[in-house]
Amino acid sequence: MNQVTIDFNHSKGTINRNIYGHFIEHIGGVIYNGLWVGEDSPIENIRGFRKALVDSLKSIHPPVLRWPGGCFAETYDWRDGVGLRAKRPVRVNWWYSHDKRTEPNQVGTHEFIDLCRMVDAQPYIAANLTSLTPLHIRDWVEYCNFPAGETTLADERAANGAREPFDVRLWGIGNENWGGGGQMTPEMCAREYIRYSTVINSLDKGRFRFIMCGANGHDLAWTRRLMQEWKARAWEEAPTYGMSVHYYTNQNYPGDPLNFTEDEWYLQIFKADYMRRIIDDHRSAMDEFDPERRLALIVDEWGNWHREGTGPSKGSNLFEQQSNMRDAVVAALTLNIFNNRCDTVAMANIAQLCNNLHSLYLAGDGNFVETPNYYVFDMYQGHQDAKQLETIVDAGYMERDGFGALEAVSASASIKDGTLTMTFANLDPATGKQIKLNALGNDLRGKAAITTLSSKDPHTCNTFEDLFAVRPVVHTEEWETNDPQVFLPAAGVVSVTLSLGAQP
Ligand code: AHR
Repeated sequence: MNQVTIDFNHSKGTINRNIYGHFIEHIGGVIYNGLWVGEDSPIENIRGFRKALVDSLKSIHPPVLRWPGGCFAETYDWRDGVGLRAKRPVRVNWWYSHDKRTEPNQVGTHEFIDLCRMVDAQPYIAANLTSLTPLHIRDWVEYCNFPAGETTLADERAANGAREPFDVRLWGIGNENWGGGGQMTPEMCAREYIRYSTVINSLDKGRFRFIMCGANGHDLAWTRRLMQEWKARAWEEAPTYGMSVHYYTNQNYPGDPLNFTEDEWYLQIFKADYMRRIIDDHRSAMDEFDPERRLALIVDEWGNWHREGTGPSKGSNLFEQQSNMRDAVVAALTLNIFNNRCDTVAMANIAQLCNNLHSLYLAGDGNFVETPNYYVFDMYQGHQDAKQLETIVDAGYMERDGFGALEAVSASASIKDGTLTMTFANLDPATGKQIKLNALGNDLRGKAAITTLSSKDPHTCNTFEDLFAVRPVVHTEEWETNDPQVFLPAAGVVSVTLSLGAQP
């Protein structure tokens, strides 16, 4: 019989809650008419942000929000987005050549911080390494973080309505500098990163968490060359918190993302599972230069990237795509991969929150809907800051040419405050699986709350017309033996929470 064993004696450590992070960029419909409707809108809003989205996001406890890009960050001048909104300039958006949209700068630093505070998320700002000077970025950091009364920039922030500092600790220095971010070589990127981070750190030595731009997917050569250059600096005044990596499961074939075939289901799942190699191989490459593991690995963009045009805007919002159970299963599989590598991955940001790739929400005018991806993040909340427990899966393998073998069930488990959280994804699109659970070093007796996300047809989507076509079902069971069973529907995601009481 299929089995999953939870090993209470072996843990990789604590699952950093920032693994459950999000990403919002000034691109297509993410910000304007997505998150932001404006204070004067007839759509219910909180200081300009769509209330339905804010309330929903808050309910899943987003630990961190990355902003303002993405590629957009590499031409963004923060000065355009502060001060009276009516007086802010309209600029060409980085994505203008794709969709002819301009940037009205109605959402800037103050609005972003306001959103973070509304949903209790930590801000993570991606700063421009390509088209502004280090001093310009240092000014932004000073504007955000200095106490009013101490410098002119801090006073300007106070005059703009925020007397208390924003206290932004996480600063990405550069985005995709191998591509849109200046087409740099890794050596050049590392040197620029060092130049910027050194200047910024002169504000307050050691308080900031700088993130250096890492590779595109599995480009280990980039990582090695970047790390070599970074290591040569060996200057402790501006320590680096992490190196990023971006990985999208791009589909370079003309399949229909909504009416995918069984082969396309498998292709997507195998591509998503490749995240394991991305993480493990990058960590090994980093270890060659950073054996003490001072640098964390940050997956600050990840997700499915389908052919666009399937979302409700029908292609008008750049990169907007609909999501169904295939995307939900990819989200669940990926989050299990991160949980089980919590000793390596310190933060991850699914791309992107609303009206874009792998989104949790679709919105436009008075419409708003939560996609199946949203429910996965909801079901996985118990893992945030919990102690990871090793899982041993014995449920068969799936094989596909060119991808090797993949376990047919993905699982992760963690414990926090006496509550065990187990999450499963059934990667088989056609057959449900009965799973026997076992525990090493503890007992699984108790009241289990079981949440199941699935659909008779894995192609089903939530739409503005049918908001809850896919939604989870919750039931409880009293587990009276130490080998209880759970059922994973085909193409389904299941989470179980079990109260075990005080733990040693
Ligand atoms: O998420 C969309 C885009 O994908 C981001 O702007 C960029 O960083 C990546 O290439």
